[in-house]
Amino acid sequence: MSASSPPDRAPLGLFLACPPGLEEVLRQEAEEIGLPEARAVPGGVECTGGWAEVWRANLHLRGATRVLARVAEFPAVHLAQLDKRARRVDWAGILRPDLPIRVEATCRRSKIYHDRAAAQRIERAITDTVGAQVAKEAAITVRLRIEDNLCTLSLDTSGAPLHRRGTKQAVGKAPLRETMAALFLRQCGFTGAEPVLDPMCGSGTFVIEAAEIACALPPGRNRHFAFESLASFDAAAWEAMKNAAPGPAPAVTFHGSDRDQGAIQASRQNAARAGVTDLTRFDCHPVSDIRRPDGPPGLIMVNPPYGGRIGNRKLLFALYGALGRVVKERFSGWRMGLVTNDAGLAKATGLDFAETGPPVPHGGLKVRLYQSGTL
Ligand SMILES: C[S@@+](CC[C@H](N)C(=O)[O-])C[C@H]1O[C@@H](n2cnc3c(N)ncnc32)[C@H](O)[C@@H]1O
Repeated sequence: MSASSPPDRAPLGLFLACPPGLEEVLRQEAEEIGLPEARAVPGGVECTGGWAEVWRANLHLRGATRVLARVAEFPAVHLAQLDKRARRVDWAGILRPDLPIRVEATCRRSKIYHDRAAAQRIERAITDTVGAQVAKEAAITVRLRIEDNLCTLSLDTSGAPLHRRGTKQAVGKAPLRETMAALFLRQCGFTGAEPVLDPMCGSGTFVIEAAEIACALPPGRNRHFAFESLASFDAAAWEAMKNAAPGPAPAVTFHGSDRDQGAIQASRQNAARAGVTDLTRFDCHPVSDIRRPDGPPGLIMVNPPYGGRIGNRKLLFALYGALGRVVKERFSGWRMGLVTNDAGLAKATGLDFAETGPPVPHGGLKVRLYQSGTL
């Protein structure tokens, strides 16, 4: 084993979860970072790989909400069978005796229908074969899914969901998750080579993600992962993977503005924690005062207040109208990606949207990405 390659074993089936509607966008990202056999399926992307791919997926994927590694799959039609087959899994090769685990189970369309009883069989199999104890707050979650009498055992290798980059402490109203923001940026064709401006930036999610993408900063560089508590973990190999040389500094900058001073302060603090202060600029002013930054044209990325969540829908028509007017007047040559839950409000911008994305669940709403052509 070299210093930069983790101990490996036969390929695992990996599942990269993401919000429904964005699976194909995540598949492209998975392919780009070299995850083998990436295939979009409902709720995420399936691919294969060893522990190296598990680490890489967690460290580099911007769009996945978590990475699951399948460790076993077998049919079972009663609890005794589940118990017997679960004991055949090489738990000792996967888990550590000194670290606790927890098990989550779901049963659908199966003879085994009692989630808790099924989870207990797995807990006992692990405790008896490895010695690991069961604890509610354990860092490692083993997931059992029983569907049509087929049992799938997976490890959640991420731990805290991957939108928690470890750098955002200050949040404004209705923040976007970093994972979703990154997938919307990708959907708009953003690769890091053009400036981005968010005129209602809230806590700065689009702007900070864009700046990180531009200098190829791995999104997982500042956090811990559940896989660090598995038997396969090798701290030296992980450090080598994590500390690979960063990309060159980009030639463009990333701009956010908001009428709320608290949001601007939060954005600046979040950018500082992410290490992108030099590449970002945040100003406090209303959308009507935005100015086109010097330099090449780029991408306006915005998610204005939603109808029904914050703000009053009538006032929002005026706001979306003002947004459409200023970008048409001042941003010729740029393009825009707008995220909203309300087709009527998108229309109120007066912009021609060449593409409307599928509905994506977000905080109890369904939002869509509306993409303009060149303004
Ligand atoms: C849905 S939030 C944006 C959340 C942001 N994408 C994030 O991830 O934190 C909408 C933002 O629009 C801002 N806003 C509302 N009206 C505005 C206006 N007229 N000019 C500028 N910003 C405005 C609000 O202060 C709020 O921060």
